[in-house]
Amino acid sequence: MKLLVINGPNLNMLGIREPEIYGTRNYAALCAYIMDAAAEVGASCEIYQSNHEGAIVDKIQEAYGNIDGIVINPAAYTHTSVAIADALSSVAIPTVEVHLSDVMQRESFRRHSFVAPIAKKTYMGLGFEGYKKAIRHLVKNEE
Ligand code: DQA
Repeated sequence: MKLLVINGPNLNMLGIREPEIYGTRNYAALCAYIMDAAAEVGASCEIYQSNHEGAIVDKIQEAYGNIDGIVINPAAYTHTSVAIADALSSVAIPTVEVHLSDVMQRESFRRHSFVAPIAKKTYMGLGFEGYKKAIRHLVKNEE
């Protein structure tokens, strides 16, 4: 199974960015964690990070016909991007949404997700573990 993990804007700043919310481990540590989680279930995995909405749309479109499952943390675009949600609907690849923090317990503008309605499942507030759960859900149908 071929997975694509997409991380949106500012996630490359993990470790520096608001450590009280996002933790002290950096983006390289997240990528290593994701690759281990994929290897554990025998999946191949590409990780892509961008701070640009259109680049994320392009990446989702490129996944069409090539990728079996998408894990996406759209970061701030979660709450603003119809374009990313439309791209995910267009390719119709099974998708799981992840947030490191519990967006429901933060500012009210974070409570709405354009991606949630098209995602099979959303994990939030679990830190790095949310990515592992997302991968295991896509590959093994685990909850
Ligand atoms: C986030 C939550 C978003 O509201 C925020 O804009 C992010 C990260 C998370 O992983 O908790 O950049 O998606």
